[in-house]
Amino acid sequence: MLKLGVNIDHVATLREARYRGRGSGEPDPLAAALICEQAGAHGITAHLREDRRHIQDRDIWRLRESIRTRLNLEMTNTPEIVEIALRLKPDIVCLVPERRQEVTTEGGLDAAGQEASLTELRKRMNDRGTEVSLFIAPDPRQVEAAARIGSQFIELHTGAFAEHFMVAANRERELERLVSAARQAHKLGVKVNAGHGLNYENLPTLHAVPHLVELNIGHSIVSRAVFAGLAAAVKDMLALMRDYRG
Ligand code: PXP
Repeated sequence: MLKLGVNIDHVATLREARYRGRGSGEPDPLAAALICEQAGAHGITAHLREDRRHIQDRDIWRLRESIRTRLNLEMTNTPEIVEIALRLKPDIVCLVPERRQEVTTEGGLDAAGQEASLTELRKRMNDRGTEVSLFIAPDPRQVEAAARIGSQFIELHTGAFAEHFMVAANRERELERLVSAARQAHKLGVKVNAGHGLNYENLPTLHAVPHLVELNIGHSIVSRAVFAGLAAAVKDMLALMRDYRG
């Protein structure tokens, strides 16, 4: 069964727009996470960015205490954030690149260029009982590097697929890149997640990608929630994922 991790950063973005620096305020990302779980989500994803633009430290600790599914902490490889992750012990960390000017995580991680440091971090996380995923572009060099690093998962960056979705030839090209990266990872014994830019329109096409374990989806679910409510938005996405055959 294809699993859904709901990325709740966007709930925190809305709160921070009004209550930045106040220590509390609505909407509460934890309350959102609990609704997502009740609606059937298999995990909750939150990105503690260095600039704390949305999720705050208190959010991840409250999530860790209260959610009943899996906590996926998205993070970058910097000493401060790594120390927090080692103490927090999320079920899994997804390592992402971070640039301060970006609106959201724009590119994949250069796993091939940082093999030694990522291998060391992977080992430290695994020693604490936390699995590791690397957010990478569907690029054979990056998939090979992820396998050498020993990460349990890769998360294939579906941003280019989502961006090119409207033009058939480009969509097919991006889909083919995802298909071959997923096959390659599977052969190398690395499990495959995917995420970024997935929505109710492009998700059925993604079913062509084999070996997917989990999708991490945020923006489209939170957007639909404004009109339909969060539980309905999660259930609608799960319904689109139900007949995935791997
Ligand atoms: N996966 C990763 C690694 C991400 O950085 C993001 C965006 O925060 C997502 C998934 C979710 O992307 P979206 O909000 O476009 O669904």
